[in-house]
Amino acid sequence: MKRFLLLLIALGLFSCKGKYDQYKSIKNDPEDYAIVPKPAHLKMQEGRFLIDAGTRIVAADTLGKEAGFLAKYIREEGGMDTKVITDEAEHAIKLQLVDSITNPEGYTLDIDNDSVLLEASTPQGIFYGIQTLRQLLPATIDSAEAGNITLPAVKIVDAPSYAYRGMHLDVARHMFPVDFIKEYIDLIALHKMNTFHWHLTDDQGWRIEIKKYPKLTEIGGFRDETVVTRDPYTGDGKPYGGFYTQDEIRDIVAYAKDRHITIIPEIEMPGHATAALAAYPDLGNGTGPYKTVTTWGVFPTIFAPKEETFTFLEDVLTEVMDLFPSTYIHIGGDEAPKTEWEKSAQAQEVMKREGLANEHELQSYFIQRMEKFLNAHGRQIMGWDEILEGGLAPNATVMSWRGTEGGVEAAKQNHDVVMTPNRYVYLDYYQADPKTEKYGVGPVVTVEKIHGYNPTPAELTPEQAKHILGVQANVWTERMPTQDIVEYMVLPRMSALAEVGWTPRDKKEYVDFTQRMKRLQKIFDAMGLNYAKHIFNSAQTPEKD
Ligand code: ACM
Repeated sequence: MKRFLLLLIALGLFSCKGKYDQYKSIKNDPEDYAIVPKPAHLKMQEGRFLIDAGTRIVAADTLGKEAGFLAKYIREEGGMDTKVITDEAEHAIKLQLVDSITNPEGYTLDIDNDSVLLEASTPQGIFYGIQTLRQLLPATIDSAEAGNITLPAVKIVDAPSYAYRGMHLDVARHMFPVDFIKEYIDLIALHKMNTFHWHLTDDQGWRIEIKKYPKLTEIGGFRDETVVTRDPYTGDGKPYGGFYTQDEIRDIVAYAKDRHITIIPEIEMPGHATAALAAYPDLGNGTGPYKTVTTWGVFPTIFAPKEETFTFLEDVLTEVMDLFPSTYIHIGGDEAPKTEWEKSAQAQEVMKREGLANEHELQSYFIQRMEKFLNAHGRQIMGWDEILEGGLAPNATVMSWRGTEGGVEAAKQNHDVVMTPNRYVYLDYYQADPKTEKYGVGPVVTVEKIHGYNPTPAELTPEQAKHILGVQANVWTERMPTQDIVEYMVLPRMSALAEVGWTPRDKKEYVDFTQRMKRLQKIFDAMGLNYAKHIFNSAQTPEKD
């Protein structure tokens, strides 16, 4: 009986081994490695790794969350259930932390017929390796394939080119449900980006609950209607508004953290403040009463540079810091017309008292006070490039949006910079010929234009260039009332941006990118996303040998 059992086990092992052997010398195609953003180093290998019902994910408890994501992707995109275990196992997918990988976001991935080994020095690096594994899986579950899915053998050594890889979303002009914000975060994660810049306040709406100042959302969170035509003005007659509660925000911050994404909140000052002033008109320059704005543009109503305003903003930022653990707090600083300050006796008095030569220096004084407050709480400020005017706050990081000049100037002054130049990375701009596009404003920013963008300006010395932290695309939602339209404007342009932030410049090639995008397209389809089709319709098919 015992002998018979041994024979059965041996037969079982043999057949199992045979099952794997049949994938040993399979030749893979370049299309099997359609990874976006393209890894820094990738060597195709012969053979494939079979994921079957017995395949285990081996990971220490410290990588439990990451292993959970991998199991989820294998289930959703491969139709297989894989168990996560902490003990060693044969024919397993092993996730392991090692000290030898220097870039905290880097990873190595070795797949052969027998095993999958993913190593990194941090859970974040492991998470990015898992995003790569996800794209190596078959992207749609073919019923013939379910239960029999394989990964192509490969050796990958990968790490990002830039430390800051971000996506911005304006929820003031139009807001989107919590579930959509989570979907947006999922997309950021899929593209190995690490920052979500959340634009929470503007003239047309204040979207973050602040307990100490409830009118910010009660009044500032709503507008009477939304503009339809500008000249002559007509509105849609429909009240519009809403806001995110502090509980919702905490939930979203935790959701992002699990995906190794930092959320940088933006609270606009001194301009883009009309919604706040509608709620608390005493903080204005005596030009009220104010109403939450129903149209788009730049408005003269800005905060008064007085003690009551600073106290208010410090109180607001105290609640913001409590919700968002990010080092950076974005304080806006863009598009603040100085006409009210020119006419205000109070503002002029502050200029005289502080020895400020003009209203730009007054804005600089305003921002520097907020910087001092945030620095005292262990945070750093980030602001749009207008914060250069009148003198940069000592520790500020600059977001260069009106072209790249602001970024160059800030880097020359030894300040850190995130590049978001409008003509390259503004995703509210048209993505193709305006004659054929339903959505968009301004100039045309094609997928190819983004893909070709180099965030490091040539005029910087190598030392100055180190201040270019990375790149971000901005999504202003004046003309994006629904999440479907946001998806259409963002995808696949954010995929091109992901490659700008991650892939070494000399490895980036546009036609090759469009080929690799076909795999990501299947993930977009599986996620039910409304992406733009331009590059998929025109992409050439690869020649096969
Ligand atoms: C901006 O686009 N006003 C930063």
